[in-house]
Amino acid sequence: MHPTTVILGGLACLAQMALAGPVPTFGSSLPPVPPAGTLITSCTRPGTVALTFDDGPGPEMGKLVDILNAAGAKATFFVSGAVYGCIYDRAEFVRKAFLTGHQVASHTWTHPDLTALNATTIKTEMKRTEQAIINIIGLKPTYMRPPFLATSDAMKKTIGDLGYKLVGVSTDSQDWNNLTPAESMVRIEAGGPTTPEGNGHIILMHEPLATTPTQLTPLVIQWAKKNKLKMVTVAECLGDYFPYTFGLPNFTKTCS
Ligand SMILES: *[C@@H]1O[C@H](CO)[C@@H](O)[C@H](O)[C@H]1NC(C)=O
Ligand SMILES: *[C@@H]1O[C@H](CO)[C@@H](O)[C@H](O)[C@H]1NC(C)=O
Ligand SMILES: [Zn+2]
Repeated sequence: MHPTTVILGGLACLAQMALAGPVPTFGSSLPPVPPAGTLITSCTRPGTVALTFDDGPGPEMGKLVDILNAAGAKATFFVSGAVYGCIYDRAEFVRKAFLTGHQVASHTWTHPDLTALNATTIKTEMKRTEQAIINIIGLKPTYMRPPFLATSDAMKKTIGDLGYKLVGVSTDSQDWNNLTPAESMVRIEAGGPTTPEGNGHIILMHEPLATTPTQLTPLVIQWAKKNKLKMVTVAECLGDYFPYTFGLPNFTKTCS
């Protein structure tokens, strides 16, 4: 046996004795954080759920962050550069989300179907969004959600080359499809506290829609608390505690 294994084994034993409960980290079989280019559709850390909000920043993003913070919930925002307005006009919301522990990730600049674009155009969409996020929070994101959840092997390769993981969903609230918050909740409850495989859910919502921040989100928070699920970022639900790399701001703060 390798000496390190002995030491780690010893530490795990001591920790177990000290806490007198299950210690699921040392030497456990939790899956590693997936590499760039992987399409992720559920959480791997037990007892977690990832609330995700696409298409912002919208006008109510600041309010949504307050609602999440009041509930002790962390979420992930997949922001676009210029879908519901220009990202720089709502930079303070994005910064507030980041500074209060939510994850900021990419949803492309104009929200195109990336499976219909060549690698050059995909890179332009990603790089412009990336630069804006760096300009706003000082860090480069490493997670993205494909618009329309549309993926292909070719686009996954391009996104992977850019250093990003792709985030899909396990439960779609269908708030985008005119479902009322109550109807969305029927879908979310039907999904159960975990996926059929026993993984935590990644729930899809849309931050700029009228009823999602103030009506659907509080219901989802209630549901998560009732089921004793920890509301964490997508990265944290995969065991990744720093979903960024470093990048230089370039001070272009315009969407035109
Ligand atoms: C990629 O697509 C864009 C937009 O359709 C086009 O202008 C460009 O020539 C294409 N580039 C390559 C390398 O095919
Ligand atoms: C800043 O970054 C954007 C997006 O990558 C790019 O289009 C623009 O040319 C850059 N501006 C400067 C001054 O480098
Ligand atoms: Zn979208």
